[in-house]
Amino acid sequence: MSEYFKNLNYTLSNEDTRIEWTLQKPDLQSVFCIGGSGARVLPLIARDPKSLDVVDLSQEQLALVELRLAAARHLSRDEFLFFLGYRGGIPGNSASHDDRMELFVNLKPHLAEPTYRFWLERKNAWIPRGFILLGRWEGHFQKMGRIFREVLRLDTRPIFEAHSLEEQNKLFEKHFKPLVFKAFVRIAASEFVFNRFLYKGHFSGQSDRRTESRTPAAFIEEEFTRLFTRTLIRKNYFLQVLFLGSVAYEEGLPLEAREDILFSIKDSSTEVQYRQANLLEILKTKPYDFISLSDTISYLPELEAKLLLQNLPKETKSGSRMVIRSFLRRPPGIESSGWTKLAIEESWARDLDTTGVYEFDIFEKG
Ligand SMILES: C[S@@+](CC[C@H](N)C(=O)[O-])C[C@H]1O[C@@H](n2cnc3c(N)ncnc32)[C@H](O)[C@@H]1O
Repeated sequence: MSEYFKNLNYTLSNEDTRIEWTLQKPDLQSVFCIGGSGARVLPLIARDPKSLDVVDLSQEQLALVELRLAAARHLSRDEFLFFLGYRGGIPGNSASHDDRMELFVNLKPHLAEPTYRFWLERKNAWIPRGFILLGRWEGHFQKMGRIFREVLRLDTRPIFEAHSLEEQNKLFEKHFKPLVFKAFVRIAASEFVFNRFLYKGHFSGQSDRRTESRTPAAFIEEEFTRLFTRTLIRKNYFLQVLFLGSVAYEEGLPLEAREDILFSIKDSSTEVQYRQANLLEILKTKPYDFISLSDTISYLPELEAKLLLQNLPKETKSGSRMVIRSFLRRPPGIESSGWTKLAIEESWARDLDTTGVYEFDIFEKG
């Protein structure tokens, strides 16, 4: 697994952080968060916990989280959106003045020296279009979208133009080609493609591992159709990146880009530590009040996944929460004595999640 996570895999996050952000109470003492792209980390800081440990096996992902947080704390919102690559310019600037390098240099005092050097050495990658589409995942999604639009000629752009669900459903009927989509997903969401391009042999949805009864293709086809017909996709950054190649609509910007969230991040006094380590090593070192594990448990050895809660420090306070996401493979039989499973919150999260692909396991200490 560590080999799979060696490079920069995620830069935008295919996780809708409204879930963790809602479940995390304000002003906690200590929070644990898997790093990834950092887009799930930032809103947790907006809740102003006293301390936050950002943990990831990958140094590259941690470098991105650190940069993202520095940008959120020290740039204006317009600069932040431009710097990360959500937008192509800064409103109010003269047309020739937008300069990511200048913003980056301004962030230097707020970055560790190796992080500054890491990004400086890769400047040619991010100066033109920012960071959010640099990751291997985001690159793959964009490629899929291009095949979809240019080869299969399935142009979903008019559907994204809708301002209401009613209008969207009419446009969906008119412009979506369900049979083409189905045929495409059969290939694009096959075990072969997932393993070859994204998971390097560790795909949790392959037939001998997944807990989801539908095949990956049937699952994605049904869930995406649900998103297209029951949620306003103008508000969905994940579908926009997939189908349009960028976060095209203001309403679709993810939580980290919201004005109030950025304001709270600037206002927060959270002490952030970056730890390049296996989550199991860090979780046993101290009690955390909130633990955001992303989709990491499906990749742990079965016994360690089962004993995850029982191996946390005994001093973990009552009311502490853990949020686990999973894609096609729910963590098998986590031993939960002393903890309550928050079933109502789990189904709320499943319905709310913009990506439509995650199951949630949410625990609260009794
Ligand atoms: C598992 S990924 C989840 C990303 C994506 N949402 C998905 O569906 O796969 C998030 C991050 O977890 C990190 N990671 C995976 N397993 C880990 C572990 N055991 N300890 C620490 N970090 C881990 C990876 O390096 C990656 O940056």
